[in-house]
Amino acid sequence: MLLVTGATGKVGSAVLAELANRSHRVRALVRDPAKLTVKAPNIEVVSGDFADPSSLDAALVGVEAAFLASAFDPKMSELQMNFAEASKRAKIPRVVLLSGVGANARQCCVRTLRWHGQVESSLQAAGIETTSLRAAFFFQNLLKLGITKDGIIAGPFRNIKWPWIDARDVGAVAAAALTDAKHIGQTYTLTAPDLLSYHEVAERLTAVLQTPIRYLDISANEARGRLRLEGGSPVLIEAKLELWDAFASGYIKVEPSQIVKEIVGREPRSLEDFARDYRSRFQRAA
Ligand SMILES: NC(=O)c1ccc[n+]([C@@H]2O[C@H](COP(=O)([O-])OP(=O)(O)OC[C@H]3O[C@@H](n4cnc5c(N)ncnc54)[C@H](OP(=O)(O)O)[C@@H]3O)[C@@H](O)[C@H]2O)c1
Repeated sequence: MLLVTGATGKVGSAVLAELANRSHRVRALVRDPAKLTVKAPNIEVVSGDFADPSSLDAALVGVEAAFLASAFDPKMSELQMNFAEASKRAKIPRVVLLSGVGANARQCCVRTLRWHGQVESSLQAAGIETTSLRAAFFFQNLLKLGITKDGIIAGPFRNIKWPWIDARDVGAVAAAALTDAKHIGQTYTLTAPDLLSYHEVAERLTAVLQTPIRYLDISANEARGRLRLEGGSPVLIEAKLELWDAFASGYIKVEPSQIVKEIVGREPRSLEDFARDYRSRFQRAA
């Protein structure tokens, strides 16, 4: 039995889509079963919450490998460490963890990378065989920027090239790691073929979506103000600004990796592939 957490999320739902109708039995852990979009005869649903350890104990019965992902949230490491503890109690042979590029438990100044690193370390300390998927920035984040409303992507992203990945490709690698024990103990950096600046992102989206889109570079302070107007949590706003600054300043550098192709056997999706597939979602945001 394979357990998939974060099953209603971007990557978890992609993991389920990869595993649907295959020979493996799969259990999807959800807080609200009504939100689950991927259904198949080999997928059963269990209610659970990372904040409720007894629900994790019940969900982990008979599980041979689990995919661990939760939301970008100030409680991310605490919640995921609950899962590490439950996995230790249940003696789960292996966990595939959704982490992030630059994850480091000793990271001084970028809390989200520290959170991801702490979860990686806690799984290791619990003696659980782990595959860490250090994913780059998801193309799917672009859907949230309201780009097609005014044709502007605004952010403190400077002119640096960013590492990107389609969340569905992270899901494809996760499904491979869940079903093949040869990935135990590996840490994989997952990126799309090209690093792209936001200027390049805007140019390529313009070409595919056939609507003018440009990148507007703003200060971190202005970005903070805009995020506050959107009503984001103050802690998460600061966490985002730290993360963006770490990449925009070159403090964290990531090279493109070939891991998706090596593991899944095809090229990772490009920004153009993503934009074509999500064209209607961009149009709805207009
Ligand atoms: N976005 C990026 O560019 C990026 C890049 C690298 C790494 N990451 C990391 O990826 C993770 C987010 O993955 P995602 O984008 O696939 O997720 P997502 O779309 O934000 O969805 C989060 C998932 O976690 C579930 N969840 C949240 N809190 C839970 C709880 N207390 N108990 C049980 N389930 C819970 C949610 O369930 P509900 O439906 O019930 O809310 C949902 O299924 C974060 O750790 C983030 O740091 C993101």
